[in-house]
Amino acid sequence: MRTPIIAGNWKMNKTVDEAVSLVREMRRGLNEVRGVDRVLCPPSVALAAVAGLLKPTTIKLGAQNMYWEEKGAYTGETSPLMLKGLCQYVIIGHSERRGYFGETDEGVNRKIKAAFAHGLTPIVCVGESLEQHEAGQIGEWVSGQVRAALEGLSAEQVRSMIIAYEPLWAIGTGKAATGAGANSVIGLTIRGAIADLYDEATAQAVRVQYGGSVKPANTAEFMTQPEIDGALVGGASLRAADFVEIVRIAAQVKGV
Ligand code: 13P
Repeated sequence: MRTPIIAGNWKMNKTVDEAVSLVREMRRGLNEVRGVDRVLCPPSVALAAVAGLLKPTTIKLGAQNMYWEEKGAYTGETSPLMLKGLCQYVIIGHSERRGYFGETDEGVNRKIKAAFAHGLTPIVCVGESLEQHEAGQIGEWVSGQVRAALEGLSAEQVRSMIIAYEPLWAIGTGKAATGAGANSVIGLTIRGAIADLYDEATAQAVRVQYGGSVKPANTAEFMTQPEIDGALVGGASLRAADFVEIVRIAAQVKGV
C-alpha cells in the first residue's frame, strides 16, 4: 500500500512575506487531512520562514532544487547540507531546470545521490516533450530518463524515492494528460523500467506522481488511476483553496 503524496511546487513565485501569508491560509486545511503526505516547495529564500510555520503541523517541506556538493565555491547554489534539517524533500530534475538551466541526466543522478546521502527524499521529475509525444517516443525517452536517474542507486533507495511524471506539454498549459494516458506511462514505462533494473517489488513500492495542469476539477481523474500515487502541482498550489481541495480529493478518492 503506497501512501498518496501531493506536493505543491511554487516555482519562482511569492516573496517571503507572500509565502508566509499563503502558508497561513492553507495550513489548517492541509493539516486536517490524514492519510495523504502533503509537501510544500516554496522558493529557497522562503524555506526557513515556511519551516517555522509548518513545525507544529504534519505538513512537510521541500526545496525545488539543490547542488550536489556540500559546500564550497559554487556561487548562488544551495547545498544538501543546508537543506538537511530544514526540509525533508527536494525536487530534482524538473523540466524547467533541465530546459532553462542545462541540467543533464548525469547531474540529476548526482543530485539524487547527494539527497540520499543527507537524508533528503528526492522527487525526481521525468517527462517527454510535445515533439517526442507526437512522434511516439514517450516510452523510449521516459525510460531512458528513469534509467539515467537511478544509475548506481540501491533498491532500498529507489523504494523510498518519489518520481513525478510530468509531460512537458501539460505543464502550465491547462492541457493535462488524461488519467488513463498518465497511468499507462507510469505503469508500463516508469514501473516497467524499475522492474527491469531492480525487481517487481521495487517497481511496486516507489511512489509516482503525475504533474501538469493538475487542478481540483481533474484531481479525481488522476487519483482514481491505480498506478498514480499523487500529484506534483504547480499553478494550483499557489491558490490556498485549490491546493487544499486537491489534497482532500486525493484522500477521498484513495480512500485513506
Ligand atoms: P502546473 O501545475 O502549473 O502545470 O505545473 C506543473 C509542474 O511543473 C509542477 O512541478
